[in-house]
Amino acid sequence: MDCALKCVALLVLLGCAFSKISASLVKDDYEHCKNTVNKWASSSPDLEVKEEKHRLRDLLFFLHVPRTGGRTYFHCFLRKLYSSSLECPRSYDKLRFDPSKHNCRLLVTHDDYSMMSRLPAEKTSVVTILRNPIDRVFSTYEFSIEVAARFLVHPNLTSVARMAGRLRSKQGGVSTLDIWPWKYLVPWMREDLFARRDARELQGLYSRSNDSYNMEDTVMPLHEYINDPIARDIIHNGATFQIAGLTNNSYLAEAHEVRRCVLKHQTLGEYVLEVAKKRLDNMLYVGLTEDHRESATMFANVVGAQVISQKIASNYSKNPEDNDISEESSSPEYHQNSSTDQNASKISAAQIINAKNEHMTVGRLMEAYETCISSLRRTQKQRRTASLKRISPANFSKEARLDVPEVVLQQIKSLNILDMELYRYAQSSFSKQHKQMLRQLKLQEKDIKLDDPYSAASRNFLLFAISIILLLLFIGLFVKRRRTLKLKL
Ligand SMILES: *[C@@H]1O[C@H](CO)[C@@H](O)[C@H](O)[C@H]1NC(C)=O
Ligand SMILES: *[C@@H]1O[C@H](CO)[C@@H](O)[C@H](O)[C@H]1NC(C)=O
Ligand SMILES: *[C@@H]1O[C@H](CO)[C@@H](O)[C@H](O)[C@H]1NC(C)=O
Ligand SMILES: *[C@@H]1O[C@H](CO)[C@@H](O)[C@H](O)[C@H]1NC(C)=O
Ligand SMILES: *[C@@H]1O[C@H](CO)[C@@H](O)[C@H](O)[C@H]1NC(C)=O
Ligand SMILES: *[C@@H]1O[C@H](CO)[C@@H](O)[C@H](O)[C@H]1NC(C)=O
Ligand SMILES: *[C@@H]1O[C@H](CO)[C@@H](O)[C@H](O)[C@H]1NC(C)=O
Repeated sequence: MDCALKCVALLVLLGCAFSKISASLVKDDYEHCKNTVNKWASSSPDLEVKEEKHRLRDLLFFLHVPRTGGRTYFHCFLRKLYSSSLECPRSYDKLRFDPSKHNCRLLVTHDDYSMMSRLPAEKTSVVTILRNPIDRVFSTYEFSIEVAARFLVHPNLTSVARMAGRLRSKQGGVSTLDIWPWKYLVPWMREDLFARRDARELQGLYSRSNDSYNMEDTVMPLHEYINDPIARDIIHNGATFQIAGLTNNSYLAEAHEVRRCVLKHQTLGEYVLEVAKKRLDNMLYVGLTEDHRESATMFANVVGAQVISQKIASNYSKNPEDNDISEESSSPEYHQNSSTDQNASKISAAQIINAKNEHMTVGRLMEAYETCISSLRRTQKQRRTASLKRISPANFSKEARLDVPEVVLQQIKSLNILDMELYRYAQSSFSKQHKQMLRQLKLQEKDIKLDDPYSAASRNFLLFAISIILLLLFIGLFVKRRRTLKLKL
């Protein structure tokens, strides 16, 4: 009895001590984390506003946040401005990227801002595009499933692996599966799709759900996807982390500890956000996926115009073969094996040749962009439809998104607090910069009017007319004077 009491007392004491220790551990970790994050934030480069940030430097670094539509900028703007010989080799593929080796002028990549440590920072201009975080999460979910579903032609994963090995040794190109973050997201979804298919076949279960975002027997439901540790690792707040240089793909050694701290202690996110905002302030251009027309116009006028005046816009290759090769090897061409795909690259290669043969201007660039984007969208849509057929009856569309419960949307928002704030910030900077651009374009128009030959002619005519009138007046005066003189005489 006595002993039992003593034991209980001892246990309580021990429990107390233990919880105190763990509380102090948590506190220590917080202190440690705060120091780590603070140190990182204050030592981050590029925090002062740069003087000439609106001037294009030698190297253009397109920081491509996944699922923001950067691929259309790459194909429909940048490829028309830069010949592929000016593109940094293996842009999208960190493992094989080596900027020191080549004197390249264009780098387009999903790698994060820490890439700057490998680049001549003084000679580099950075551009990026941001998107509403909720749409970005939806799009990431849909795209990782879309790409994974292409593999469902195979009977099982062993067969997928064998095929992948053969393909890799044959092509040596960059595929979606080499590119961060798809190299994690696609295999994850691929395994998941095969497991669900096997389970369906075993149990003969079929979906009773009509909500494509919650169709458990076919694909991983959205709410499950967004709560997985993998999604927390690489999707949520992804834009902020990428711009801060803190993705789990970072070059920076301390990035991983900073990430761990920020994921664990939410309040430390503020530091990361501040760094990301300052980086945006220093970029040459920040577009918005939602304001697609305005963003494209601004890109053409801010970035395009300067690339053109740098006189590196290429008269590039008359040889179709060259363009085909570059299309295959250095673009983030998402690998698949279908005839639509082959048609797609043929179309865009042909357009590239056409555009590059002309003498480029901002107006022509916009025209080429419009044509290019509509054909790119068409082939993307075909590819998507073909792929999603394999997971029917699940089908992702704008209408189906409307059925996603509010709770899930709220959850996405709260998982992406940093990105939500960064996006708001980018929106307000964008509208300022856009207004400024419109003002400048108007001024330029006025200049052109003053300079144009028609108004110059009319100015000359006016001068001519005035001098004639003056001359007539003078003659009139002279004649009158002579008359008065005559009269006097
Ligand atoms: C996977 O598919 C291949 C090709 O159909 C077949 O030969 C192999 O036995 C399958 N493996 C398993 C583990 O089912
Ligand atoms: C799914 O079914 C519910 C009723 O069961 C209906 O209200 C809803 O519109 C359907 N959604 C779709 C995408 O068909
Ligand atoms: C990055 O995230 C993926 C997915 O969670 C994980 O498999 C991988 O190991 C991570 N890499 C690093 C360097 O943390
Ligand atoms: C384009 O071609 C012309 C004539 O072949 C050449 O003079 C010019 O330097 C070229 N421009 C570029 C950017 O290569
Ligand atoms: C593409 O698919 C066809 C069958 O549709 C197959 O015969 C061919 O080997 C595949 N090629 C590659 C490179 O996977
Ligand atoms: C690809 O192009 C060929 C002709 O160029 C056409 O016959 C074929 O239907 C196209 N395939 C797809 C899937 O669009
Ligand atoms: C999926 O939806 C799209 C557009 O909403 C439609 O074009 C496509 O045919 C649908 N696919 C299937 C398999 O129902």
